[in-house]
Amino acid sequence: MPNAISLPEPVRLGVIGTGWIGSFHAESIAHRIPGAVLEAVADPRAGAAETVAHPLGTEKVYLEALELIKDPDVEGVVIASPAFTHTDLVVAAAEAGKAVFVEKPMALTLADADRAIGAAAKAGVPLQVGFNRRFATDFAAAKAVVAEGRLGTPQLLRSVTRDPGLADPGSVKPWTIFLETLIHDFDTLNWFNDGARPVEVYAAADALVAPGFKDSGLLDTSSVTIRYDNGAIATAEASFSAAYGYDIRGEVFGSRGMVTAGDVRSSSMRFYGAEGASSETTRLNIDLFREAYTDELAAFAASVRSGVVEQARGEDARAALEIALVCIESYQQNRPVQLAGVSA
Ligand SMILES: NC(=O)c1ccc[n+]([C@@H]2O[C@H](COP(=O)([O-])OP(=O)(O)OC[C@H]3O[C@@H](n4cnc5c(N)ncnc54)[C@H](O)[C@@H]3O)[C@@H](O)[C@H]2O)c1
Repeated sequence: MPNAISLPEPVRLGVIGTGWIGSFHAESIAHRIPGAVLEAVADPRAGAAETVAHPLGTEKVYLEALELIKDPDVEGVVIASPAFTHTDLVVAAAEAGKAVFVEKPMALTLADADRAIGAAAKAGVPLQVGFNRRFATDFAAAKAVVAEGRLGTPQLLRSVTRDPGLADPGSVKPWTIFLETLIHDFDTLNWFNDGARPVEVYAAADALVAPGFKDSGLLDTSSVTIRYDNGAIATAEASFSAAYGYDIRGEVFGSRGMVTAGDVRSSSMRFYGAEGASSETTRLNIDLFREAYTDELAAFAASVRSGVVEQARGEDARAALEIALVCIESYQQNRPVQLAGVSA
């Protein structure tokens, strides 16, 4: 008889928040990540956790996130609740000795970012942030080209986020474009330009998609210029309404060449007809980044066992947040702002 092979115990993860991204993360854990199981789900909306958990075969649901965190069967916590809840939940999970994956933004102030990082460090638990672009195959390949020095010295960097739909402009919280959207771009630029420090930011922004909501704080269009201490100049650009699809791109131009990542086309299929040639495009982030969202959680599950976070650490979230906060100052004062000038 052959020797029995002993498989490692699956990592038991709990998901907090079952909205757009939390329900997708729950499904990924249940179906797409070998070695992880969906142990429990929490959401304060009556019936929301059940609606997501039960079809995935998970019985354990909570209305209160802290109950999930305290559950001794939960080894790692995936926080996908609204941004303002993130830091307190990170701290609570770390203090309970649980590994933490938190959606971006990890915090809304630098003091809270430090609190989250400090709590994870003190407890000795992994802390990973939802910067999924780092896990996208094309972005990771572009990063490798830069890291290998193949394009020489980075001189110009670019990161673009164009979202196809602004369904309800009235529900968008002030500064979302910097704190929740462009924060992905700031992390991508920092990651591509690794080792360099952002020193100055100028943010232009407006409500061009839904101008009627500008007075209530909506900004839906922005271009941000960032100067780094290695001389490189970067731009991060966002729109909440791209008519043609979900368009996320990154680019680094250097002294010996250029590397690009991201393609709005959903496949290499082209339709050739009487009016010319056309492609289909991706409309949802969970389609464009399906594999990246899965791979970041697979990496998180691995970190629960190894204790090592390879990508998208708390410190990366703090660095991106610092740029986002300086963008707010720059927009309010309509001038470039030095990074050292931000107050926590
Ligand atoms: N990485 C990405 O690409 C990506 C994509 C989408 C959203 N996000 C981030 O994920 C977070 C959630 O976004 P969303 O679009 O899924 O929001 P959403 O509004 O669709 O869902 C939020 C859910 O959290 C629940 N909730 C509210 N307070 C809670 C609490 N205290 N504890 C537990 N659950 C609570 C709500 O009932 C709701 O079900 C945001 O920070 C957002 O920026 C990241």
